[in-house]
Amino acid sequence: MLARRLQYIGHNTLKNGNIRSVASLVPGEPKEPNVKTEVPGPETKRLSEELNKITQSGSVQLFGDYDKSIGNYFIDVDGNIFLDTFTQISSVPIGYNHPEMLKVFTDQSKLKALVNRPALGVFPGDYWPGKLKSVLLSVSPNLPNVMTMMCGSCSNENAYKALFITYRKHQRGENIDFTEEEKASCMVNKAPGAPHLSLLSFHGAFHGRTMATLATTHSKAIHKLDVPSLDWPIAHFPQYKYPLEENTRDNKAEDAKCLAEVEDLIVQYERKGVPVAGIVVEPIQSEGGDNEASPEFFQGLQNIAKKYGAGLLIDEVQTGAGATGKMWCHEHFGLETPPDIVTFSKKMLIGGFYHSLDERPQQPYRIFNTWLGDPGKIFLLEAFIKVLREQNLLEQVNKTGERLKSGIFQLEKEFPALLNSTRGRGSFLAVNASTHQLRDDILERLKKKGIISGGCGDHSIRLRPSLTFQEHHADIFLDRFRQVLKETK
Ligand SMILES: Cc1ncc(COP(=O)(O)O)c(C=O)c1O
Repeated sequence: MLARRLQYIGHNTLKNGNIRSVASLVPGEPKEPNVKTEVPGPETKRLSEELNKITQSGSVQLFGDYDKSIGNYFIDVDGNIFLDTFTQISSVPIGYNHPEMLKVFTDQSKLKALVNRPALGVFPGDYWPGKLKSVLLSVSPNLPNVMTMMCGSCSNENAYKALFITYRKHQRGENIDFTEEEKASCMVNKAPGAPHLSLLSFHGAFHGRTMATLATTHSKAIHKLDVPSLDWPIAHFPQYKYPLEENTRDNKAEDAKCLAEVEDLIVQYERKGVPVAGIVVEPIQSEGGDNEASPEFFQGLQNIAKKYGAGLLIDEVQTGAGATGKMWCHEHFGLETPPDIVTFSKKMLIGGFYHSLDERPQQPYRIFNTWLGDPGKIFLLEAFIKVLREQNLLEQVNKTGERLKSGIFQLEKEFPALLNSTRGRGSFLAVNASTHQLRDDILERLKKKGIISGGCGDHSIRLRPSLTFQEHHADIFLDRFRQVLKETK
């Protein structure tokens, strides 16, 4: 069915210089970017001024025309056509206006689930258990339970609570009743009801902007300034030398150093009377600069978590849903057992977390809010997963990723003074510019040439294309990137 709807509009340049048409996975995509106005254009400027009178809108880059945007092409209100390698901060799974997604709410029962948004923890519709099973659990990273939430921050925030609740459950052992003292003291934010416990996170991490997640976020000061926070342990995340193959000894030593620090901190905080109830970590630190760590590092981290009775939470909000060439990035690590908790949002369209039975609170209402997500989003996720399977998009991500990664390596060779440290998995890739200023210039100039791309950390350019980004899109990106670098020389 889907295959028949493919349109032949993309093109690849062959070695002999001829152009070959290739099938685009989203029908109706333009052939290439086309920027007709200055960027931002006059209509984006006008709307930005209007918006800024109402709210702080300094982060707005472009206003989108979401009627016209299609597939991997973002079209702005000035009619400029951009190839989108950043996809709304990594959150568009199969491109704009995918026909299978548009079809979802033509089904009246799904439309009614969207309109009559239930308090899912209290009055779910009859479809809810079935959808959790057939949609969310069908792509679970081997964890039997799932809790839905609205966004990445609130998924982590609530998952942190599950880590604490489980830690205390283990401490109480058989005696599951709360004491009167606990009940009274928690009401005034005091121990023992509100116990002295901590979570260990990593320098460079980003887990969200709510109060507890912000305490574990360490990527940019501007996110944290002026907000009171918690004195919880922060370890160093490995900082590798590139290329990886030429630096295995140093990088292995880096893993060992960071793991030793994790263990030291756990012991220190135990002694301080603030035991570590959990370790929270991204499989690839994304906002913090696309810092990756080896499977051995993650295996070691899991062993330490188990040794000290701390839960292991892997935050797959940005890495999850296929972009690294596997459904979950941590599946690349060969962990002995699944992590205790895996959080998700962004490309999964609905937020939430998978968890082990041990992480399930014994009483209701402990992990809870009014909406607990949105059934409309699970219907969209269902459509996305159907397309993912039918079009074998994980294989596509790996093919596109190879093309992109080898192309960026080539650019790194051609422009060694400008680029270094190409890295990543699948099409979840990054490269460093030699300076912060150069990185920002490259992003701006790429945009003027019709490419939306993103930055992360101080120096990195990150790629977060949709799973329908194909080799011909990669070629367009690489061509424009080369033009920008040539102009920099
Ligand atoms: C790894 C990670 N965790 C959590 C979040 C927070 O998600 P949200 O912005 O939906 O609250 C992000 C957002 O970028 C993220 O990258």
